[in-house]
Amino acid sequence: MVSRELVNGVYSVGAFDFDRRIFDELIPLPEGTSYNAYLIRGSEKTSLVETVDPSKEYDLISNLVKAGVECIDYIIINHAEQDHSGSLPMILEFYPDARVVTNAKCRDLLISLLHIPQDRFLVISDGETLSLGDRTLRFFLTPWTHWPETQVTFLVEDRILFSCDLFGFHAATSDLFITDEAWAYRSAKRYYAEIMMPFRGSIKGYVEKVRALSPVMIAPSHGPVNKNPQFILDAYADWVSDAVKNEVVIPYISMHGSTAKMVDHLTGALIARGITVKPFNLTRTDVGELALALVDAATLVIATPTVLFGPHPSVVSATYLANALRPKTRFATVIGSYGWGGKSVETITKMLDHVKVDLLPPVMVTGEPGESAMQDLDRLADEILKKHKEINIV
Ligand code: FEO
Repeated sequence: MVSRELVNGVYSVGAFDFDRRIFDELIPLPEGTSYNAYLIRGSEKTSLVETVDPSKEYDLISNLVKAGVECIDYIIINHAEQDHSGSLPMILEFYPDARVVTNAKCRDLLISLLHIPQDRFLVISDGETLSLGDRTLRFFLTPWTHWPETQVTFLVEDRILFSCDLFGFHAATSDLFITDEAWAYRSAKRYYAEIMMPFRGSIKGYVEKVRALSPVMIAPSHGPVNKNPQFILDAYADWVSDAVKNEVVIPYISMHGSTAKMVDHLTGALIARGITVKPFNLTRTDVGELALALVDAATLVIATPTVLFGPHPSVVSATYLANALRPKTRFATVIGSYGWGGKSVETITKMLDHVKVDLLPPVMVTGEPGESAMQDLDRLADEILKKHKEINIV
């Protein structure tokens, strides 16, 4: 790999991971990812912002050696998760005079996760600055831009924001900067859904805080660098807002075709009423796509057959995930079929305790859905349309 210059004296020195296909053993990575680290040369001090995933630590070391970096004074760690901090022990061995600059909560996590000695840290607080000579770093604590210890770092004179997980996206690309905003928008939205959506309430404030800094560049720790910060700030402002769209998301499983028949009928009934529908067969769904669909949808319809006495386990898993991601969905219900009874509706609706939704009447049928089940689904489509009209999205 190579180091590349963002502006004079500021370099990208991190690593690509073109082959990685899953993150946290949960999030699919169809385009791989990158672990970005940045080197900033000041007139008096040199700083590294982040390290890389431990699987790529030799790439980072190699980039620094090739760039002729003999001394690092400060290593800024904005987030303790190992994809950014995991090479810290090796870098600290390689650069024995370097201090790790971060906030107290992040320091505690780094000690716990990586056993970094306490005396290697320089602890900063919100708004504090650190001089590199002719360049200044300013730190802002941004808790819950993934974990509770997260922060961002602003290079004041160059107006570059090093935002770590925030505003980035998972993609390995040889382009240093975003060159295709339509592609970046979709990738960033998917990443927002998977990582940031549960913290929508906090992120609202951070978006405005970052706007006030008027950055000319946002350099995240995943994906290419953004030279048009307005683009991603406007996108985030929309995603974190309370506004929902005239859309219905239907995650479903069908074992013998009954639930699939209901989903097909409801999908058609909703389309006929001018509503966008996104059904996801959970046996084939990429959960990142399901998360992405949940960013804007006004209504969630969970469709399940009955296994023994409750919902299908794959539906339980998807419902758990949807609840954990805390989308701004306004309405929800359950449809499906059963053979001899069951508690699917109660089980699923109880699982949605983090999603503030109005529950619409469920449609559960015995065995093969007949004419009256289809009429119930038509009535559900009418009800969804009525609810969407009440909140002025139709
Ligand atoms: Fe990219 Fe939360 O780590």
